[in-house]
Amino acid sequence: AVIPHLDEVTPTAAALGAVNSISWVEGALVGHNTDGHGLVRSLRVDEGLEVSGSRCVVLGAGGAARAVVHALAEAGASDVAVVNRTASAAEVAAGLAGAVGRVGEAADVAPADLVVNATSVGMGAEAGSTSPLPVDPGRLGPGQVVVDLVYQPLRTPLLTVAAERGARCVDGLGMLVHQAALTIERWTGTDPDVSVMARAARS
Ligand SMILES: NC(=O)c1ccc[n+]([C@@H]2O[C@H](COP(=O)([O-])OP(=O)(O)OC[C@H]3O[C@@H](n4cnc5c(N)ncnc54)[C@H](OP(=O)(O)O)[C@@H]3O)[C@@H](O)[C@H]2O)c1
Repeated sequence: AVIPHLDEVTPTAAALGAVNSISWVEGALVGHNTDGHGLVRSLRVDEGLEVSGSRCVVLGAGGAARAVVHALAEAGASDVAVVNRTASAAEVAAGLAGAVGRVGEAADVAPADLVVNATSVGMGAEAGSTSPLPVDPGRLGPGQVVVDLVYQPLRTPLLTVAAERGARCVDGLGMLVHQAALTIERWTGTDPDVSVMARAARS
């Protein structure tokens, strides 16, 4: 809704049709979208993981999923399969990954290197609970990285079952911190201390 009131948007924000931050650049209001880059940067900086060449499954096709799909493709993922309850939304999201994007299905989860839950399933779940889940846990296992963008609770039902099945688990706070850090960098021209931000967010 804010985009028509801006002077410019970045190519990423234009592709997504959504902004999550606005900055002044030489008298112009510029809209940015740092969500997807925040995830890729948190995987790189916090987890030592490069997305390049990875087979990825993104569960969900809402605002967060679209940002992630776009960023994974930009970071060199070899395959980005979007699995979503509503097929038409999955098609739109998959289109944001260009040649490596496609509408996926549940069976794509098992062979994936990286599985990102970008649905809201699991949000507000009881601590220690193993439901509700956005995917059949039988499709998760060792050798996979499972990221849950849901950060309330931090240990979601998905991450609980993924860890039990031997997958490497990454919670949603890294993306939250890094997308904010990218915005702070742009606003202030200085690099914030991401480790301090992460400690504060986790405390
Ligand atoms: N970690 C971070 O920095 C960060 C940043 C942004 C968002 N998030 C989190 O990411 C999640 C999604 O946010 P969003 O803004 O993308 O939300 P959104 O635009 O409302 O999209 C929600 C997505 O979840 C799916 N969904 C909802 N309920 C479902 C159910 N019961 N079964 C299967 N699929 C279901 C929807 O599928 P349909 O298309 O079929 O409706 C849609 O794909 C939220 O939990 C949010 O807190 C985290």
